[in-house]
Amino acid sequence: MPDLKVLLSREQIAQRVGELGQEIARDFHGQSIIFLGVLKGAAIFLSDLARRVPLDATFDFIGVSSYGNRPTPTENPAGHAAWDSSGEVRLTKDVDQALTGQNVVLVEDILDTGLTLNYIKKIVMAHQPKAFRIAALLDKPSRRKLPIDVQYVGFTIPDAYVVGYGLDYAEKYRNLPDICVIENP
Ligand code: IMP
Ligand code: MG
Repeated sequence: MPDLKVLLSREQIAQRVGELGQEIARDFHGQSIIFLGVLKGAAIFLSDLARRVPLDATFDFIGVSSYGNRPTPTENPAGHAAWDSSGEVRLTKDVDQALTGQNVVLVEDILDTGLTLNYIKKIVMAHQPKAFRIAALLDKPSRRKLPIDVQYVGFTIPDAYVVGYGLDYAEKYRNLPDICVIENP
């Protein structure tokens, strides 16, 4: 049986998401923004965050898939050597609207090696947005391979595999209300 231990409770998450929302509202005061969510993990974070930002806003979503950096059901996610990224990221869904001249806030569930966000940043910057900022709910800095600037970070966490609040293990556990460390999946 998988062993799930709460790392961040729903109350802690809600509190921090509210704070991030206030920061974003302050930084883009009087302007409109596009929340650009990274499918599928950021869906829940985006929907909560956007409701804490009282500005004119629209939503868009981008889909990426990274070869080899997710554990297969037979691997143990606690052993990170087993799921090191090959570094290849592939676009599975492009943005729906032109981002040129727009304020784009990229919303991501977790920043790990940094490969995914570097790849997405390149795609977004090619649109020449007015402003580009990144909001990542979680950051695992100890796993970074490529540096990336993130303006809004929810929580810095240790090197463990986490699920819940949008984050999955083999597509499961996204609907857990708390963020949990998973062992023996
Ligand atoms: P990066 O390219 O290594 O920064 O990978 C980021 C992506 O890997 C995230 O968007 C997640 O989809 C996935 N990921 C990394 N760590 C975890 C984790 O602990 N739980 C669930 N997904 C993770
Ligand atoms: Mg992701």
